[in-house]
Amino acid sequence: MQSEAEPRALHAAIIMDGNGRWATGRGLPRLAGHRRGVEAIRRTAEACPDLGIGTLTLYAFSADNWQRPADEVGGLMRLLRTYLRNETQRLARSGTRLSVVGRRDRLPAGIPEAIAAAEAATAEGRRLHLRICVDYSARDAIIEAARRLEGGEATRESFGAMIAGEMHGSPVEVDLLIRTGGEKRLSDFMLWEAAYAELHFTDRMWPEFGEEDLALAVADFAQRDRRFGGLKSSRVMVAA
Ligand code: IPE
Ligand code: IPE
Ligand code: MG
Repeated sequence: MQSEAEPRALHAAIIMDGNGRWATGRGLPRLAGHRRGVEAIRRTAEACPDLGIGTLTLYAFSADNWQRPADEVGGLMRLLRTYLRNETQRLARSGTRLSVVGRRDRLPAGIPEAIAAAEAATAEGRRLHLRICVDYSARDAIIEAARRLEGGEATRESFGAMIAGEMHGSPVEVDLLIRTGGEKRLSDFMLWEAAYAELHFTDRMWPEFGEEDLALAVADFAQRDRRFGGLKSSRVMVAA
């Protein structure tokens, strides 16, 4: 068990929503919002270590987002390709380990290889573990893990590891789950891992999210009493 006296690195997860509305509200194409969203990813990741966040999981593209018009999906995939090409060195230099979580078999040609190369180049990063979810569905991960179990024994730990494994991830409990863009729903994100996550919803559109918003969310989190079903409160000390 974690001692209350020892600050530990938090796992924050963000549903990065509102790119399209941010853009259309300014008379811009939706893709302009996605482009600005990439800058918000950089700002937010850079702010994490000083706020006591050791793992940051970002929801970038859901399995259901394939339903969007082909030009928007194509634009998002081009942005992902550019991100992997342009950011890998910067991430490695800043001690950030990058993992991409989600299915890889439906991504456009070349992207799975670019993901593998970025993950290998940043594997030694210890300051922040940045996990970006692409073609991700929490429900599909749970179904696949259940299918593989085939009546076998499972504990919360072992089944959680199987779910994570389905999505190329490692098992992680979410401490703080943030959704930007004003909606208050989970949209098939981290349904298992967020069992006891503290939820923080903000109206800030993702392209405008930054260090101050993240600091506010962490301060909100630090005020919560986490009881995990028991009666003893374990207020997590935030390292910042
Ligand atoms: C989030 O922004 C990014 C993705 C889902 C790819 P949206 O594109 O959902 O933006 P809104 O919700 O339409 O404003
Ligand atoms: C959730 O946002 C997915 C991502 C942020 C990647 P959506 O915009 O797709 O979710 P809904 O449709 O509002 O639930
Ligand atoms: Mg949305």
